[in-house]
Amino acid sequence: MSIIDVEQISFAYSEEKRTLNQVSFTIEKGEWIAILGHNGSGKSTLAKTLVGLLEPQSGEIRIDSIKLSEETAFDLRKKVGIVFQNPDNQFVGVTVRDDIAFGMENLCIPRDEMLKRIEFYAQKVGMEQYLDKQPSNLSGGQKQRVAIAGILAMRSDILIFDEATSMLDPYTRNDLIRYIQSLNQEGFTIIMITHDVNEAILADKIMIMKQGEIAAFDNTHTILEKKELFDENHLELPVALEIASLIEDIKLKEILWEFVSTM
Ligand SMILES: Nc1ncnc2c1ncn2[C@@H]1O[C@H](COP(=O)(O)OP(=O)(O)O)[C@@H](O)[C@H]1O
Ligand SMILES: [Mg+2]
Repeated sequence: MSIIDVEQISFAYSEEKRTLNQVSFTIEKGEWIAILGHNGSGKSTLAKTLVGLLEPQSGEIRIDSIKLSEETAFDLRKKVGIVFQNPDNQFVGVTVRDDIAFGMENLCIPRDEMLKRIEFYAQKVGMEQYLDKQPSNLSGGQKQRVAIAGILAMRSDILIFDEATSMLDPYTRNDLIRYIQSLNQEGFTIIMITHDVNEAILADKIMIMKQGEIAAFDNTHTILEKKELFDENHLELPVALEIASLIEDIKLKEILWEFVSTM
């Protein structure tokens, strides 16, 4: 069953240039999608249209079969959580606690439950010591962790991470990715916009964006076999696959693929 249907959407910030050009795709419930693409290819713009922050000039988006529009945007925001690359724009509260609570307040979650979730998700991202601190004093990575906790706490069916792990240290990032994997296994739909092909490998499918269009969208394995796609879009293949693409020996190829899928 599809949870996101995008049909022929186009979006332009100004008259000179289309940032999204006739984009169409479907995401099934419970899938994990990675979106790769060069800077400026339209990934963040696409993410913003999916949560109703930007309205496409043409085309249609359906979330859980409901057409996204001015009237439905507020309700649909409950189904889709998003964390951006730059967490500064997402802070409104006096304390970290307020900021984690913010999204939940809009969902009218009972206070007891909210307090429990704040503790739980602060711990998940390793920020439980900072709950009473001012968000403005935190580092970039810590702000990202708070923003992520706030989104996880909403328990939206669809979670979009727009390069949201870029400032995290490798240890925190791995922990978080493992947690996102467990959410995905529970049935949450994950969209991860990333620069890191090693992160994209975890997805069921990879979408590659190029100049506002979808250059490719297919099963992760199929995409990773198309080395030329990575070259054309200035994306780095994981080293093991770079090697696999150079060798003829089928057995050795298999071993390298095996290695990549268990990373
Ligand atoms: N608020 C904005 N106003 C005008 N142009 C923008 C704005 N945001 C992004 N753009 C332009 O739209 C294009 C796509 O940007 P973006 O969606 O951020 O790409 P990506 O996330 O893939 O790096 C770029 O050319 C960028 O300069
Ligand atoms: Mg972006």
